[in-house]
Amino acid sequence: MAKISYKESHKYEGKGDEYEAYYRTEVWEKFLWSREQEIILRILDKYFAGKEIHLLDFACGTGRIAGLLENRVKTSTGLDVSGSMLAIARDKLKRTEIIEADITTENVLKRRKFNLITAFRFFLNAEPELRSSAIRALVKLLDEDGYFVFNNHHSLGSPWIKLLYARHLRKNPEGTFNAMSIEQMKDLVEDVGLEIVEIYPAGFFHPPKVPVSYWLNRAIDNLACGLMFLNRFSESPVAVCRRRKNHGSDTSASRK
Ligand SMILES: C[S@@+](CC[C@H](N)C(=O)[O-])C[C@H]1O[C@@H](n2cnc3c(N)ncnc32)[C@H](O)[C@@H]1O
Repeated sequence: MAKISYKESHKYEGKGDEYEAYYRTEVWEKFLWSREQEIILRILDKYFAGKEIHLLDFACGTGRIAGLLENRVKTSTGLDVSGSMLAIARDKLKRTEIIEADITTENVLKRRKFNLITAFRFFLNAEPELRSSAIRALVKLLDEDGYFVFNNHHSLGSPWIKLLYARHLRKNPEGTFNAMSIEQMKDLVEDVGLEIVEIYPAGFFHPPKVPVSYWLNRAIDNLACGLMFLNRFSESPVAVCRRRKNHGSDTSASRK
């Protein structure tokens, strides 16, 4: 059977409800979401203090990120290709303009600009072609001084993901295993003239098949996250990106 493309994968009826239930019941996802909320709010304080924010939450799904931010920003726009996911977002979000479209093929946002673009749980699973068409479309919508914030929820730097990957290679080398390294995150954005200015670590202790309590995980993350250099080993790092200052006159030699 042909593998369904990532673009199509969230469109079936009931997917939005399944996704919401997942976040209500899975301890790891609940824990990660608590960390992501803290990180996103820290990013707002650090990079947007005193500024009006115009948010685009790309691949907004059921409105997790837009829901956290819509009352903290001047304008909020959520965009996704899945009607099933957006049906939940429409119920949940009160101040967000919701657009069902594919910006990799349709120019629905025309000349609009946003100074904060978020993309959570998208790039890891998107196929290489979709990754690059999405980032190319997004960079055109980013304000000159704006920030692009995205995460990678299966970072190859995490020892647990490395373990899962090794097991996958042993048992099912022909299959797909989605993991992204910090270097791949950098390459993704550098290809379109952005640079990562900061990476926030989230999620360190996720041994496969061993249930770990929410509170133990919080305690471990609190300890580890004091040491930002550990971000490389976290499972779900969040990157803050902006335009590279010398992009245009830049050459690969001058970037060394
Ligand atoms: C795992 S969900 C993440 C939803 C949300 N960002 C979150 O973190 O909860 C991935 C979303 O990407 C959407 N998606 C896939 N391809 C897309 C595309 N080309 N344009 C916009 N959204 C897309 C899917 O429909 C799905 O809702």
